[in-house]
Amino acid sequence: MSEALDTIRDETEAAIAAAADLRALDAVRVAALGKSGRVTGLLKTLGALAPEERRSFGAAVNALKGEVERALDQRRTALEAAALEARLAAERMDVSLPPRPFPSAGAEAGAIHPISRTMEELIALFGAMGFAVAEGPDIEGDWYNFTALNIPAHHPARQDHDTFYLPAPKSGGDSPRPVLRTHTSPVQIRTMLAQEPPIRVIVPGRTWRADHDATHSPMFHQVEGLVIGRDITLGHLKGCLTDFLRAFFGIADLPVRFRSSYFPFTEPSMEVDIGWNRKTGELGAGGDWLEILGSGMVHPKVLANAGVDPKVWQGFAFGMGIERITMLKHGIPDLRPFYEADLRWLRHYGTSPLSPFNLHDAA
Ligand code: DAH
Repeated sequence: MSEALDTIRDETEAAIAAAADLRALDAVRVAALGKSGRVTGLLKTLGALAPEERRSFGAAVNALKGEVERALDQRRTALEAAALEARLAAERMDVSLPPRPFPSAGAEAGAIHPISRTMEELIALFGAMGFAVAEGPDIEGDWYNFTALNIPAHHPARQDHDTFYLPAPKSGGDSPRPVLRTHTSPVQIRTMLAQEPPIRVIVPGRTWRADHDATHSPMFHQVEGLVIGRDITLGHLKGCLTDFLRAFFGIADLPVRFRSSYFPFTEPSMEVDIGWNRKTGELGAGGDWLEILGSGMVHPKVLANAGVDPKVWQGFAFGMGIERITMLKHGIPDLRPFYEADLRWLRHYGTSPLSPFNLHDAA
């Protein structure tokens, strides 16, 4: 009997020492202490022994069981520590490494959409000139979108806008139907009604017109600008927009031309052109002019409609198409892929989320 005990002890301890991992160790535990294990087998024989023998042999078997359990515990602790060491070594990361190149090889790396990128740039560039960001709803009241902006019911400018109208609310009587805003200009009105001048905001956002071809989409984006103060002049308008256009396009001596025009909500009104080469599409030089945005001094009627006293306050406003300036800046020929979620296009024209825009990128 004691020989059997010694054999079991020696073999089990050797097997524990040889177990290379936790799974192998568990197999050793089952072979010794499991339901049909060798030590368990010895315990099962105790019942058949004479009381004298049972006491001494029982004590010896229990002692063996304790030894095996301790040896298993020790080995398990050692194996767990080794496994942790191995994992730490395998998963070591060098926090001083630079970010992976974009897009990282084989991985589905995301990219910032050019529209979002341009909005980031607008917010950074105008932010540096003291502009806050204002927002308004896509579904707009007729009064905000047209009437308050000095475009009354039968004004011809209403026809230019190819407006999407929504059904009138049932309780609305004969009040005008809501519209999908045709420009960001209604946020001029909302901002003036919501806050006291002086005001300096830009309004990047979605706009809607029933138009669809290579350069028009029924949904597109504009950015509006509004500056109201006691002595804001056309000089401020020219300086602000010239600085912005040169910084945005990264061309320090970009030619900028202000050409008189007409908008119902400004007086005087000006179209702003930049210099480019019509043949090559190159911006900056070439002697041709490209219209880029509308602007003007806010019409006194518009100020009054929005509760701002035109005898005390004056200011300028501007509006431009975000897709348009994005296409020009990056040489993107077609508007339609902007909204097609084609990953190949996005990889080509998108920018890395790891390189957020900052003012040092601007000229
Ligand atoms: N709202 C005009 C449009 O969508 C653009 C515009 C022109 C906005 C002149 C202005 C402005 O604020 O002063 O065509």
